[in-house]
Amino acid sequence: MTKSELTAAEAIRSRRSIKSFKTDPIPEPVLQELVELMREAPSSWNFQPTRVVLIRSKEQKEALAAAAWGQKQILQAPVTFVFAVAIRGWEKHIDSILKTGVDRGAWPQNFADWIRANAPGFQEGLGEKQREYAMKDAMIMATTLAIAAESKGLGTCYMNGWDEKKVMEIIGLQQDKNYGIALVLPLGYSTQPAKNPGRLESSKFVFTDKIPAGQI
Ligand SMILES: Cc1cc2nc3c(=O)[nH]c(=O)nc-3n(C[C@H](O)[C@H](O)[C@H](O)COP(=O)(O)O)c2cc1C
Repeated sequence: MTKSELTAAEAIRSRRSIKSFKTDPIPEPVLQELVELMREAPSSWNFQPTRVVLIRSKEQKEALAAAAWGQKQILQAPVTFVFAVAIRGWEKHIDSILKTGVDRGAWPQNFADWIRANAPGFQEGLGEKQREYAMKDAMIMATTLAIAAESKGLGTCYMNGWDEKKVMEIIGLQQDKNYGIALVLPLGYSTQPAKNPGRLESSKFVFTDKIPAGQI
């Protein structure tokens, strides 16, 4: 951590949704480091279903902004991350994922064998929920990136406002129920500090042991 970087707690407190970006480029080593930090995000079974596309060209930014109902952050930000999911992507990578876990000493061979034997059936058993599980993984990765970016003085904006079919087309994915888009996240330098719109008091959403009747 360099002196100018924020701690995780500082970054969590100062992160805001940036609606107006400078067009200044992000230094390539910073971008690469953010990609490496994002790569640390965990996923269910370590199956890593997230596929990330960095939108950088003028043409692609314009197409993506149009698919996001003209939201201008995408046009201004030097890079916008599209977090897609490949719901069955694990099928292609499971052998290397398990081997890596064993080679790194993180997993005993019998644990890897257990995952090999059980995870595919578990995934199938999820049915339609496989998409939800993949989306959770993608959101964890996007959040990891947003906090890492904030720690380095960059701003982001989580974005749900876009047409999924159009975004898939723009990043080169065919319409297929095994693919989906979790989030669009422009990244860059904010033109001005954004204010915190506030949150519910913790007494309204944090409970111990059970949610009391009528409190939800
Ligand atoms: C999943 C998600 C989707 C969002 N989608 C959009 C969006 O499409 N466009 C936008 O301008 N802001 C979007 N926001 C930003 C929210 O409005 C913002 O996070 C919220 O008002 C709290 O402000 P803060 O992030 O500055 O604390 C989204 C936020 C989240 C978490």
